Amino acid sequence: MTKTIFVLNGPNLNALGKREPGIYGGKTLADIEADCKAAGLELGLEVDFRQSNHEGVLIDWLHEAGEKAGGVAFNAGAYTHTSVGLHDAIRAISVPVIEVHISNVHAREEFRHKSMIAPAVKGVICGFGPLSYILALQALKNITQ
Ligand code: DQA
Repeated sequence: MTKTIFVLNGPNLNALGKREPGIYGGKTLADIEADCKAAGLELGLEVDFRQSNHEGVLIDWLHEAGEKAGGVAFNAGAYTHTSVGLHDAIRAISVPVIEVHISNVHAREEFRHKSMIAPAVKGVICGFGPLSYILALQALKNITQ
């Protein structure tokens, strides 16, 4: 049976393409979704790709993933650095969650060096541009089979 992987995106990621292209590159979130779906086809994973600017919606989707998905690739955007609620939601589900960032958060401002969700996730992939998402899908394929 094809495994469904949720790829969840947090605040401001809907603005990719026009948002700080020097940091995040020129691809839109729709481009990244298409890349993830194509990689999913090759890996035998069904990709359910979503974005919200609202913390509570992301929490609801993590709970849903706990019921329906084989794993989650999660770019929590700025909530990465602030959200105890997302940390708790990840700990509340038993499917693996991989933290994803387009940029290398450790090479940026000090406030981005701390991740509230990192202690709750299976692993972290950051700094590879949109390729970070594909690497997360490959990792999920490997750890869930
Ligand atoms: C980000 C890094 C975060 O610090 C930032 O708030 C984002 C994007 C990334 O993908 O590089 O919104 O998660």
